[in-house]
Amino acid sequence: MSEASATKRIAILISGRGSNMVALAEAVMQGTIPNAEVAVVISDQPNAAGLQKAAELGIETLLIERHDRSRAEHDCEVVDALKQREIDLVCLAGYMRVLSSEFIGAYRGRILNIHPSLLPSFPGLDAQKQALDHGAKVSGCTVHYVDETLDLGPIIAQREVIICNDETVESLSQKILIEEHQLYPEAVNIVLGRPS
Ligand code: GRF
Repeated sequence: MSEASATKRIAILISGRGSNMVALAEAVMQGTIPNAEVAVVISDQPNAAGLQKAAELGIETLLIERHDRSRAEHDCEVVDALKQREIDLVCLAGYMRVLSSEFIGAYRGRILNIHPSLLPSFPGLDAQKQALDHGAKVSGCTVHYVDETLDLGPIIAQREVIICNDETVESLSQKILIEEHQLYPEAVNIVLGRPS
C-alpha cells in the first residue's frame, strides 16, 4: 500500500459482538494506528451488538442485509458503499459471510480478516473447538489477507496461546480473543507500513 504517511480510511465489517471492531477503533483513536480513520462500520445483521458500540464511538454505521439477493448482488451494495466513502482498507471482524469474487476483485490485497486459530490449521467455523478436538497443545489467532480461499490467504501476523489440560471452548475462546485485540491493530500497522 503506497503513501504510508497519508490518512487511510478503514471500513470494518461485522456480523455480531464487534469486540475486534472496538479494539481497532480504539487503536485508531489512541494513535496506536497512526494517520488512520475508521470511516464506517458495516453489518449484514440488524441485531449485531457491534453496531451500537460503533455508534457510541461516533463512527458511521450501515446495515446492509442480504435479504433474498445473490451473494454477488449483496456484495455489490457493500462495495458501492465502500467506494462512495473512498475506503482504503477493509477489515473483516467477525463478518460471517464468504465474500464474492467480485468483492475480492474490487479490493484485492486490501481486505483483512482475523481468525481464531493458527492458520493454516483449523480454517472455517468453530476453530477453537476444532483445536480442542484435535488435541492441539497450542492455538492462537491469525490476521490474513482475504482471497478466494476460505481463511487461507497470505498470513500477515499471528499470536499463539497455550492450551491447558482442562481447557474448554469458552476458556480457549476468551484467551484467544485477548490476543486478537492486540494482534489486529499490529497487523493493520504492518499492512499500512506504519511503526507500531
Ligand atoms: C473472533 O473470534 C474472530 O476471530 C472471528 O469471529 C470472532 C469475532 O468476535 N472471526 P468479535 O465480534 O470481534 O467480538
